[in-house]
Amino acid sequence: MSILPLLNPHTKSSSLATCVHLCLLDLHLFQKLWLEARFVGKTATKMSTAEMDSILGFLENKKILVTGATGFLAKIFIEKILRTQPNVGKLYCLMRAADDKGANQRFQSEILGKDLFRVVKEKYGKTLNTLISEKIVPVAGDISCEDMGVTNPGLLEDMAKEVDVIVNLAATTNFDERYDVSLGINTVGARNVMKFAKKCEKLVVYVHVSTAYVWGEREGVCPEHPFKMGEALNGTLGLDIDAEIRLAERTVKELHADPNLSDKAITIALKDMGIQRARKYGWPNAYVFTKAMAEMIVGEMKGDMPAVIVRPTIVTSTFKEPFAGWAEGIR
Ligand SMILES: NC(=O)c1ccc[n+]([C@@H]2O[C@H](COP(=O)([O-])OP(=O)(O)OC[C@H]3O[C@@H](n4cnc5c(N)ncnc54)[C@H](OP(=O)(O)O)[C@@H]3O)[C@@H](O)[C@H]2O)c1
Repeated sequence: MSILPLLNPHTKSSSLATCVHLCLLDLHLFQKLWLEARFVGKTATKMSTAEMDSILGFLENKKILVTGATGFLAKIFIEKILRTQPNVGKLYCLMRAADDKGANQRFQSEILGKDLFRVVKEKYGKTLNTLISEKIVPVAGDISCEDMGVTNPGLLEDMAKEVDVIVNLAATTNFDERYDVSLGINTVGARNVMKFAKKCEKLVVYVHVSTAYVWGEREGVCPEHPFKMGEALNGTLGLDIDAEIRLAERTVKELHADPNLSDKAITIALKDMGIQRARKYGWPNAYVFTKAMAEMIVGEMKGDMPAVIVRPTIVTSTFKEPFAGWAEGIR
């Protein structure tokens, strides 16, 4: 994993990055060892109590928006904050749902209901419900839409006024997703979350979670740096994100206009398109290609916003906290 502080590396953003880092780092031994060998900076094992205290101090009273809250890493992030810093301001947990009630139901069943929260439940006992009602705000949204698909205007306004930290974890992690879907969530979604970040009045840091594989399938030492807009892995010129979005939209329309094509055939065609577009510019699949384009957008849009890109490798299960070996899905 690597962390790219895109701007103002001396701001408190580094504390949050370390915290995100920590959450992600309390994970599988293999990844930990790999990180110790490769990560340029601090790893969880080397973090002193003073550093940990400074992270917890930073998180106190902070209002944090987490996108993709039902996801594997977001749940680990939410659990760790509730367990270690109950004095966090608020956690706005954005997830796909018909409305905020639906989001609350998802929060209860797909987040809090998971065994991952066993230690949090033991720690707070009967006071957990109060903590959750005071600190957690489930938000119905869809980052592929304008305003992150948040249709509750009051809530959107509150978040824009209050949010100190945004952690964008929402993504489709399916390697061979349809190109239009991958682009819509990973690339356009990243743009929509950045657009919202620009409206936040007191944002301290924006954390974008990417993947180490945006650097493709190279071997040996791969020095990392932020992408420039339109930079292709294989040096091919002409990568234009808006043109990719228009191309995908046009292709979807054309495929749907063909009466001989079944839905299945359309899906296959759009999956193939993702692989072809990715390979044209040197990436192996639509997932990493669309994630790389998201990084370009974050880099271009951030202006003077403190922004951090985190690039995890493969996260399989919890390492030690809240207990060893918690995993979800096929990893
Ligand atoms: N886990 C890893 O090993 C790993 C490694 C490198 C990078 N990463 C990155 O870390 C982030 C989280 O990964 P993960 O493993 O936790 O993935 P995950 O379990 O698949 O979670 C992704 C979450 O994003 C949500 N999402 C998808 N589309 C959305 C949309 N349009 N609007 C709002 N939410 C949406 C999904 O919600 P639904 O529940 O509604 O589907 C899901 O909860 C991703 O950005 C991924 O690229 C993960």
